[in-house]
Amino acid sequence: RQINSVEMEQRKGRRLVLFPLPLQGHINPMFDLANILHSRGFSITIIHTTFNSPNPSNYPHFTFRIISEDLPENNRCTKDLIAFVSMLNAICGSPFRDCLADLLSDTSEEPIACLISDAILYFTQDVANELKVPRMVLRTGAASSFCVFSSFPLLREKGYLPIQDSQLEEPIVDLPPLRVKDLPVIHTNDPEDLYNVVVGMVEQSIASNGMIWNTFEELEGTSLATLHQKLGVPLFPIGPFHKCFAVTSSTTSSSLLTHDQSCISWLDKQDPKSVIYVSFGSLASISETQFLEIAWGLANSNQPFLWVVRPGLVHGSNWVEPLPNGFLETLGGKGHIVKWAPQQQVLAHPSVGAFWTHNGWNSTLESICEGVPMVCMPCFTDQKVNARYVSEVWGIGLQLEKGLERGEIQRTIKRLMVDKDGEYIRERMLNLKEKSNLCLSESGSSKQALDSLVHHILSLES
Ligand code: UDX
Repeated sequence: RQINSVEMEQRKGRRLVLFPLPLQGHINPMFDLANILHSRGFSITIIHTTFNSPNPSNYPHFTFRIISEDLPENNRCTKDLIAFVSMLNAICGSPFRDCLADLLSDTSEEPIACLISDAILYFTQDVANELKVPRMVLRTGAASSFCVFSSFPLLREKGYLPIQDSQLEEPIVDLPPLRVKDLPVIHTNDPEDLYNVVVGMVEQSIASNGMIWNTFEELEGTSLATLHQKLGVPLFPIGPFHKCFAVTSSTTSSSLLTHDQSCISWLDKQDPKSVIYVSFGSLASISETQFLEIAWGLANSNQPFLWVVRPGLVHGSNWVEPLPNGFLETLGGKGHIVKWAPQQQVLAHPSVGAFWTHNGWNSTLESICEGVPMVCMPCFTDQKVNARYVSEVWGIGLQLEKGLERGEIQRTIKRLMVDKDGEYIRERMLNLKEKSNLCLSESGSSKQALDSLVHHILSLES
């Protein structure tokens, strides 16, 4: 039903309830979305878990409600991500329901227009149905990888899932240019858990009142069209979220770790586009052997490097202990290692010429927005699909296909940053950067999708 402008006027001053998945790569885009919708006149309430809880004092313009999810101690860590996510979906129902019911009955606040929850928190759809609140979904990953997730039943039926080692190079006919090795899987104690999480996420997204995407039409138009046809719910590609704000104001507030600002003064001393920035996001981990191959590959590339070694990145080490004594000193200032970087600021710095990434969706998008070509090293789930799109569909990066070996690393960095035959990649990247800027302009695709989203939310009937 179309609503008229009088009705629209009456509905201003409505509240949105947002519920993020408590992991860094999901918290950042949810808070960016909250800021975007707040700037469009909505009041914002954030429901959050005790695990990885945000700092409300960074957001005086929002209100916060905590649910005590009571995770068993051994499941608070995120070693087995799928077990963690399954557990959250299993145990949060009752405290979340009580919290939302309480908010709904509070007549001192504006009426609630809808709930917006992370697609992975799929249990929230049943709660929303029960309490008769419209639910919209934020999907923090790419539309392209969601196409693959929505094909899991088909992939299982056709024998691609569970993955067999003997089939890794086989193309997936229904999902070009993906091969079996690009499928978005992750090691978990019970592979059936992964299947159930994916199917739960997709089915409860289909049951929602619409999906909000941190992507843009010019980047993922084809995948968005496929999903539109397949899922049959309204889709709102309004990204890139973080570019709606000044660079320092968004993820700095939602970061769970402290940003080391020494990165910026170190970058200030380097030549334009000379630095390779290396970070594998908030969850991925590597072996000590891989860590050392990376270190020597970087050293031998002869490019200056800024490397984020998150505590816990290297199995069995607290931080950089496996490096040979005096490793950085022998490089004469060519390398800088930190525990956590102000990534968006780093990528926007003129000295940065390439990003060696695990291709988490936020990192991928942040790189695209700054026109920084990528060395791709996906570790698990959607990262594998993102990396294949970066290297083969968009042509804006090179994937390390043969594992981690210092010679291959050195050659890949050179090709991407220096060699003539990497020039086409650098050019394509700059082209795409241009498009990522244009989509947020007044007549741009994301701006228009945001206008439709606001209209859609105001037209939802609770
Ligand atoms: C996780 C999953 O790994 C990924 O597959 C999924 O797409 C999102 O959730 P994560 O490992 O956290 O992602 O990576 P990513 O999506 O790239 O998000 C990391 C965020 O942390 C980015 O916004 C990035 O700017 C920020 N970051 C990263 C920092 O602020 N500092 C750093 O040093 C590294």
